[in-house]
Amino acid sequence: GLLGAGAYAANFAVVYNGRKLSNVGELSFANKVRIPPLLEGKPDGSGRRVFRLTAQTGESKLLPGKQTPTWGINGALLGPTLRARRGQKVSVSLTNSLPDATTLHWHGMHLPAEMDGGPHQMVRPGADWNPEWEISQPAATLWYHPHPHGSTADHVLRGLAGMFIIEDDEADRSGLPNSYGVDDIPLILQDRQFNDDGTLDLSGATFMQSLAGVGSPGVLGDTILVNGTYDPHVQVSTTLVRFRLLNGSGARTYNLGFTDSREFHLVAQENGLLEKPLPLRRLQLTPGERAEIVVAFKPGERVVLRSFEPELGLQFPTARLGGQEDTFDMIEVRARDRLTESRPLPDTLRGAPSAISVPEKARTRSFAFNSFTINGKSMDMSRIDEVCPAGEVEIWEVTGDAEVVHNFHVHGATFNVIEYAGKKPDAWLRGPKDTVRVPPGDTVRLAVALPPHTDAKTPYMYHCHILRHEDLGMMGQFTVVEPGTESGAPRTIDSAH
Ligand code: C2O
Ligand code: CU
Ligand code: CU
Repeated sequence: GLLGAGAYAANFAVVYNGRKLSNVGELSFANKVRIPPLLEGKPDGSGRRVFRLTAQTGESKLLPGKQTPTWGINGALLGPTLRARRGQKVSVSLTNSLPDATTLHWHGMHLPAEMDGGPHQMVRPGADWNPEWEISQPAATLWYHPHPHGSTADHVLRGLAGMFIIEDDEADRSGLPNSYGVDDIPLILQDRQFNDDGTLDLSGATFMQSLAGVGSPGVLGDTILVNGTYDPHVQVSTTLVRFRLLNGSGARTYNLGFTDSREFHLVAQENGLLEKPLPLRRLQLTPGERAEIVVAFKPGERVVLRSFEPELGLQFPTARLGGQEDTFDMIEVRARDRLTESRPLPDTLRGAPSAISVPEKARTRSFAFNSFTINGKSMDMSRIDEVCPAGEVEIWEVTGDAEVVHNFHVHGATFNVIEYAGKKPDAWLRGPKDTVRVPPGDTVRLAVALPPHTDAKTPYMYHCHILRHEDLGMMGQFTVVEPGTESGAPRTIDSAH
């Protein structure tokens, strides 16, 4: 790319002073982790579930003895966990009480583009937004966050994000732990940088600042928050616990494992359950990725969930994304002295295979990352980059920048990774996904099940989920139209709102 290693290293040094970061030994895990309140929506007269959300400013006690101005949904920091079942109609009523215009995007949700909460669905300060859709996809751990073009990093780092859990009959039948906050625990993993006075250091988080900081890996913090709790522990009371892990960070990748290297089981990726539990000791999550894991505990024990510096030879090549080489303790798990015996981990999690089947004549689209552009283009709100046939399966191949690690997220769709850097993907990458790490200088091939909802004038997004890269323009737009009508569909739209 245009950016030499020198510019990259210089910026890296600004963030890091040239050293690797670690918090190991610095934490006492003194604070009980906050569990976001669960909202299941109030049924209205017409059978919809109504969720009332207000985006607001507030103050949070994060670091000892300090107050931090933060943003949140229905509170000062982060938002409630929303939960709905497949087949339900949901209706959200969002009020924007922030000083800035923002949006709320349903990351991983299958829904019409108009309801998606992307950069075209801006909500002005003081205004409301009322999307409605039917939950039409299998059980999964999704999330929501703002998506205003150019300010997504700023808004997310101030604290706007939350989980959206979808349940269905198949997930019920799987027998996985599902008692929210007890044996089914959300863990939103984020890093932050603080100023001495306790305020968030958002430098580099806004679009103009990021222009000056092109080449830096994105906004990395030296402090870990889990569910918005600093120095956290979580108490568990059952022999098996399901953790829903979300990397909600701006740029940091986590290579997760436990300090005793115990085995755990991966049971779901971003868009739903695997066919059967997969034993692992390490799991990588790039920004925006989610995973559900089940971990066994013995009475009275304590173990720390840590992000490890990747070992050479591990399935992830050591990356040049800053932070990937750092070691961070995330949260201590404390098992009670008496544990309730859980149902055993099931052998199979789904009734039928979940793999997306790729038709022989599937069309291939290619996306090349280079110098914070995709196919040489920077995001333009009025340009439709790709027009796609509704409901079809396509191969999307994404080639990484040789110099900076990125990842790739597609709105409104589920994909399978069918090839990773020329090889069959490792088992832990084979589930239903919506975000994937892109190997630097190499290609990842995806089978993308495109959304069924046609709308020639409202695009979905695809982008790098390192938030500052996305804000810098590493994003493109696709519309979905009736198959066969692609060539007549508009390639530009009115983006003035
Ligand atoms: Cu999580 Cu387009 O984003
Ligand atoms: Cu998304
Ligand atoms: Cu990127």
